[in-house]
Amino acid sequence: MDLFEYQARDVFEKHGVPVLAGAVATTPQEARAAAETIGQKSGGVTVVKAQVKTGGRGKAGGVKVAKTADEAEAHAKAILGMDIKGHTVHQVMIAQGAQIAEEYYFSILLDRANRTYLAMCSVEGGMEIEQLAVERPEALARIAVDPNVGIDDAKAKEIVDAAGFDDADKSAIADAIKKLWVVYREEDATLVEVNPLVKTEQGDIVALDGKVTLDENADFRQPDHAALEDTEAADPLEAKAKAKGLNYVKLDGNVGIIGNGAGLVMSTLDVVAYAGEDFTGGKAKPANFLDIGGGASAEVMANGLDVILGDEQVKSVFVNVFGGITACDAVANGIVGALKTLGDGATKPLVVRLDGNAVEEGRRILAEFNHPLVTIEATMDGAARKAAELAAK
Ligand SMILES: Nc1ncnc2c1ncn2[C@@H]1O[C@H](COP(=O)(O)OP(=O)(O)O)[C@@H](O)[C@H]1O
Ligand SMILES: [Mg+2]
Repeated sequence: MDLFEYQARDVFEKHGVPVLAGAVATTPQEARAAAETIGQKSGGVTVVKAQVKTGGRGKAGGVKVAKTADEAEAHAKAILGMDIKGHTVHQVMIAQGAQIAEEYYFSILLDRANRTYLAMCSVEGGMEIEQLAVERPEALARIAVDPNVGIDDAKAKEIVDAAGFDDADKSAIADAIKKLWVVYREEDATLVEVNPLVKTEQGDIVALDGKVTLDENADFRQPDHAALEDTEAADPLEAKAKAKGLNYVKLDGNVGIIGNGAGLVMSTLDVVAYAGEDFTGGKAKPANFLDIGGGASAEVMANGLDVILGDEQVKSVFVNVFGGITACDAVANGIVGALKTLGDGATKPLVVRLDGNAVEEGRRILAEFNHPLVTIEATMDGAARKAAELAAK
């Protein structure tokens, strides 16, 4: 889960990373009120910043300096509602204005390829960092960080030396870097990025813009993180699925997919997309990813079907199950139970392919149930074709 800048700022503050005062506003009037208070710390100067989960806000006109509260209100009026790379601005942050002497770059991220963490640091931060990384990669220091050790004094020194900071600034920057490591570790982040990390005219080191990605796998030990979720932006079907504990991702097609096991579901998406190409204009495409996992009980099946049938784009549903520890008869009973639970709520054709453990018994149960909406197919390809055909009708 990515955080908004203002949330990253709050998390930084919690762990002692130096940040400037900031407050969120959703209306120009709120922005003015916030600017009146926050501006007192910086001679009336504030910066109005679009809160959207994408970079490059500055270049897109989403970051504007205001010298007075009047100006802050006017900037907020212009920025709220703006579209930045497909993200509508619903909130702005009113930040204390900094007098920037230098802009640096620092990040810590999960380096999957090398199975470690990676710290990146540059004395040339600011808005052109992506360009810098491509054109002059040597100007961006990359230092591996052992997860078991983290960024201690020695590692922080290695980073600031490699980045080439002035000796006079090294200790303050190393200190900020160590605190950013604490954020990364304590919050179970997979990314902590500060761009720019600035030195002010007064000589202070401050994190001016933060990007934090939290690892949702750690939610079980991070009770505070639920409150950081942007529930308004969540897809309503995904939110419903999440509430029911389902592993569901909404896609853009019209063939609903249910399978057991992430690998099987991924390949089901592929065969449906492939089969769909045979129907004029590629009219049949997967509508979602849904892995109901090993259990596949009637309840889980009913919940899964309920979510998928709630998707208006869905025209047919493909249930693709390979019986393993949970045998096909149990799955078939799950489907029967689900259809009984849903009753009139089951409105779209269902193509079922069962294979594996107790397949004969599973197919027999479904055949006997003889539901008008259910078609049984023997193979995965055949079922994909059938589901695509029904959706393209
Ligand atoms: N509080 C602030 N005071 C002064 N200048 C700021 C402040 N926040 C941002 N800026 C300036 O605006 C630029 C872009 O802002 P930033 O928050 O990094 O947004 P983005 O990375 O999305 O463009 C920064 O590089 C900095 O020069
Ligand atoms: Mg930035």
